[in-house]
Amino acid sequence: MAAGIDDIAIYVPRLFVDARDFAKARGMDPDKLQRGLGVSQMAIVDTNQDPACMAANACLRLIERNKLSPKDIGRLYVATESSLDESKAMNSYVIGMLEQIYGDDSLEHCGGIECKFACVSGSYALYDNSNWIRAGESEGKYAIVVVSDIAKYDLGSSGEYTQGAGAVAMLLNDAPRIMTFDPKVTSTSIKNEYDFYRPFGKETPIVNGQYSNLLYMIQVKKALMAYREKALSTGLIKLQEGETILDYIDFINMHLPYSNMGKKALAYLLRHEWRSMPYWKKIIEKMGMVEPAPKDPRGTIESILADEEFMAKDHEFTKRFTQTEEFQDVYDAKLASSLIASRIVGNLYTASLYMGFRSCLEFEFQKGTDLEGKRFGFGSYGSGSSAMVFSGVIMPTYKEVVKDMNLESEIGDRVKISLEKYEEIHENKRGPNENLIDSKKEFVLVGVANTSEIRGQRTYVFKE
Ligand code: HMG
Repeated sequence: MAAGIDDIAIYVPRLFVDARDFAKARGMDPDKLQRGLGVSQMAIVDTNQDPACMAANACLRLIERNKLSPKDIGRLYVATESSLDESKAMNSYVIGMLEQIYGDDSLEHCGGIECKFACVSGSYALYDNSNWIRAGESEGKYAIVVVSDIAKYDLGSSGEYTQGAGAVAMLLNDAPRIMTFDPKVTSTSIKNEYDFYRPFGKETPIVNGQYSNLLYMIQVKKALMAYREKALSTGLIKLQEGETILDYIDFINMHLPYSNMGKKALAYLLRHEWRSMPYWKKIIEKMGMVEPAPKDPRGTIESILADEEFMAKDHEFTKRFTQTEEFQDVYDAKLASSLIASRIVGNLYTASLYMGFRSCLEFEFQKGTDLEGKRFGFGSYGSGSSAMVFSGVIMPTYKEVVKDMNLESEIGDRVKISLEKYEEIHENKRGPNENLIDSKKEFVLVGVANTSEIRGQRTYVFKE
């Protein structure tokens, strides 16, 4: 049985910080954010928003748009790394909010859990729910997987300019209108690492930024190699002499902690794939530089990062490579459209990859590209760390869903906030009811109990 994505709905908070204001306040060159990292605006949650209500808002949009009734939904999973409780799962809050609209117990049959593995958990949730459908357990019902997060780093840290917030809700079924997942090729890679982690009780992560960049690429490459083996052994892809696996992936979607990470990862993967191809020699000649190797090629990530001479040469090599026509062609054709949304919303952790997928669908549709039958490859990464590579093929029916996608109107009227207001929110100086803007037709947080017997209980209402 087939399984895949039938529809996608998004929720992005309307408050945002502009990268130029941010750079000015932190004494940085705005070009570093806009050109260096690809960050123009970062979505910020208001005081009365949290990952649970963003998830519920994305779900509600998905359910309303598809005129679903609660009995049509068999499962609801939430993947997040912005957990609200050590025990109570985020999908239970979402069910509670949706039942304010659909009636008490209307979703009581709709089981699910909260999934955690940094930014990659949404991909594991999609895979598990697709397998529930493939196994014939769904009995014609949909599964909903919602990915929702607030990317929040310490004030003044280098992660601070890669923040963002938002949720993406995906409707899965056995006859998906948008994309059917390729069976038996989903591949993973996992290693116990401390590139980015958030110990219990700490609101912001402890990050080793440059280590995380390199680890991301290594892990995705490993998962891609495993995908390659599976794609060849199942016969999904048949490689001819001089071809690489990426030649058979028409569009590439990467996890996007910031927009330019997609480009960085694409360059890394292409270098790996093209190195053994006959045309690599020609590309190298045009670049006028030999590919550098670290002093200790079998060294650790730390030893490679500490090899300053290699790092500087490698940086220059990557720069020249990304300027070649060969790279640019792949970048423009397969990746660029997926990066547009990330520039204006920032890192959404679990939701970033799927916001990128939606961005690609919307902006390729606007360009008039025919996506029917095209294969999308996904490079999912979560710190800690694990990567997942999988793929799917776009269905002939995709246009009836994608034609209505409009990032700008779905976010709504955005409100730019000053750095002063942003810092007040960041440092939790305002209570839930001291929100900056009014909400309409969405769930908001109205209180978090602090008396001992009910400490931590959260109350949400739907604002008409
Ligand atoms: P940094 O040290 O500020 O940045 O950290 P940099 O010095 O490496 O500069 C960034 C880029 O800007 C470079 O480009 C510079 O050349 C360029 P690149 O070499 O990469 O092509 N640049 C400029 N460009 C134009 N004009 C200028 C200028 N100056 C510099 N004047 C870092 C950047 C991303 C490490 C930091 O922001 C950070 O730690 N972020 C948080 C961690 C992160 O996002 N890691 C990404 C991989 S791990 C991941 O994706 C998982 C994650 O989402 C969490 C999860 O899984 O849950 C984070």
